[in-house]
Amino acid sequence: MVLLASLITKPALSWADVAFFALFIFVADSFTIPLPKNASISVSFAVIFAAALLFGPQAVVIASLITVVNISDLKRKIAWYKMVFSACNYVISAYAAGYVYILTGGSIGGITVADFPYIIVPVVFASTVFFAINTGLIALGVGLLNDESPVGIWRFDYQWLIPNYFALGVLGLVLAQIYYLTGPASFVLLIVPLLIARQTFQVYMQLRGAYLDTVKALVQALEAKDPYTRGHSERVAKYAEQIARELKLPEDRVETLRYAALLHDIGKIGIARKILNKPGKLNNDEFKKIQSHPRIGAGILSDIDFLEKAIPAVYYHHEHLNGRGYGEGLAGERIPLLARIMTVADSFDAMTSTRSYRPAMSVEDAAEELMACSNRQFDSEVVEAFMRTLDLSMVEAGPEIKELQLSIAVENPA
Ligand SMILES: [Fe+2]
Repeated sequence: MVLLASLITKPALSWADVAFFALFIFVADSFTIPLPKNASISVSFAVIFAAALLFGPQAVVIASLITVVNISDLKRKIAWYKMVFSACNYVISAYAAGYVYILTGGSIGGITVADFPYIIVPVVFASTVFFAINTGLIALGVGLLNDESPVGIWRFDYQWLIPNYFALGVLGLVLAQIYYLTGPASFVLLIVPLLIARQTFQVYMQLRGAYLDTVKALVQALEAKDPYTRGHSERVAKYAEQIARELKLPEDRVETLRYAALLHDIGKIGIARKILNKPGKLNNDEFKKIQSHPRIGAGILSDIDFLEKAIPAVYYHHEHLNGRGYGEGLAGERIPLLARIMTVADSFDAMTSTRSYRPAMSVEDAAEELMACSNRQFDSEVVEAFMRTLDLSMVEAGPEIKELQLSIAVENPA
């Protein structure tokens, strides 16, 4: 529809200019950087925006059509319908941004120095519209495909990009001006700031990868010391994530919970191996030492900036709802929600795993134990959420667990 409107209104444009910008958009869009939730980011917005400023919304719609072909998507064997969706998204976002730019007083063509104080408002409005539509539609599409909350995906993958998008908007303005003054020969000049902007995104994503490697290294250090925890952290993280999604927590909190769950017992690094691996019952003194592991863990994480938000869930993961747990003796909702989730996930896995001092419990018995201790040790809403999500294929479950799930479903039809 947008394309049709563009052709019908016969924009005043030079086809050579549009072809140049189509090529430029193609190059910028072909070097996308993958984001965690199957989304990706490129610097093509700056080029599309520059085209919108120079030629108006109709011309930029035609130039943006080129984004249906994308080298990086072809290499990654992205499905054709996703590529079409992405191109339509660019076309709609570019048209809306160009239109808003004109509506808010922006002028098409070259920008003079005298325009400058007045051009800021249209540029800010147009950048905002482009960003909101473009990232909003991607989050909606990815959310529908993965059955996840689009708001959560947007917050996780795109919220941090807001300042970067405004910077790209300003860059688009500069690109438009350079092109206006020097013409297509300015390609070399134009590509340098784009490469720098792309590098910024890439460094950020590499940093996120390094974070994950840090967490993995810490988990390995713990598992080397306490063989009974091998695989425990991963399983607790999996159960905790299931509960968090069932409770519809936003994506950034799910991510924080995942880090916290992977590292919840990291404080055991500071406990003597003979206590951790002692078969049989611990004496009072040994038990007190074990009880210090949440505090030691929180201390270790406090030195790592990106894990700061995970600290409360680690520190309070042995608190009980009735205040009789250990840590600070918190009760009820004073215990952070992420810690209440982790307590359920941790206890379920601890019960269903073999430990040095006892054999593994059956899944049915562990589920019954969680239910029996609801409102005393565990938050009942968290336990119920876990029961709803307990995947029968993940564990060897008997008919009893089905009955338990059924009874919960009947009690809580929502
Ligand atoms: Fe623990």
